[in-house]
Amino acid sequence: MTARPNDDNRIKIAPSILSADLSRLAEQVKEVEAAGADRIHVDVMDGRFVPNITFGPVLVKSLRPATTLPLETHLMIHDPDAFLEAFAEAGSTSLIVHVEGALHLHRTVQRIKGLGLGAGVAINPATPAAMLDEILPDLDVVLVMTVNPGFGGQTFIRRTLSKVREVRHMIDEVNPGCELEVDGGVDPTTAPELVEAGARVLVAGSSVYGAADGPTAGMARLARSLGL
Ligand code: DX5
Ligand code: ZN
Repeated sequence: MTARPNDDNRIKIAPSILSADLSRLAEQVKEVEAAGADRIHVDVMDGRFVPNITFGPVLVKSLRPATTLPLETHLMIHDPDAFLEAFAEAGSTSLIVHVEGALHLHRTVQRIKGLGLGAGVAINPATPAAMLDEILPDLDVVLVMTVNPGFGGQTFIRRTLSKVREVRHMIDEVNPGCELEVDGGVDPTTAPELVEAGARVLVAGSSVYGAADGPTAGMARLARSLGL
């Protein structure tokens, strides 16, 4: 059996640059790398799939030399197929697409893998876990959205906790090498609950980059809440 990304079952923190000070992005990314971040989460929004617009491949390209960490790219866009190559060329390490935004999800996932990147699928808060049934065996990551995608700093939707538990069971049954990641409202209060429910990768935007005492302190608080 080949080694899979989460064979060690370690809890990983993925700071989201959505809440970073973009005027000094490289510095902000280096800071969380030094503070123990496992990967950088890049939120791509198109103003259509979600009511906000953010970054494109040019940002990934300019960020790539600033860090040795994986650049996980969360595509909150309609019809992601048109942009897979561009993000691969720019330096993304993995691409996460939404069930709700990809009409031919199986093909999209195969194309991501064909580009040599990690393949992830995200589900929105109102999307049932069962939507993952057919695609789960092919995935490296499942991302359970714990807020509605589009903005940082939203309140954690508690109802998603039971879905995290359900997805944990599904992964353990059919694809134990697949990572279970959560995104939205992750802070020192919700992080331990999410880990208890089965999450192993935690995206954190405002609790890291929005911390009044800075991202290093935000990372430390999160790690402490998890006993890391
Ligand atoms: C929301 C994005 C998140 C966002 C999370 O649409 O997908 O990655 O940055 O932000 P917080 O951690 O502030 O909820
Ligand atoms: Zn995200």
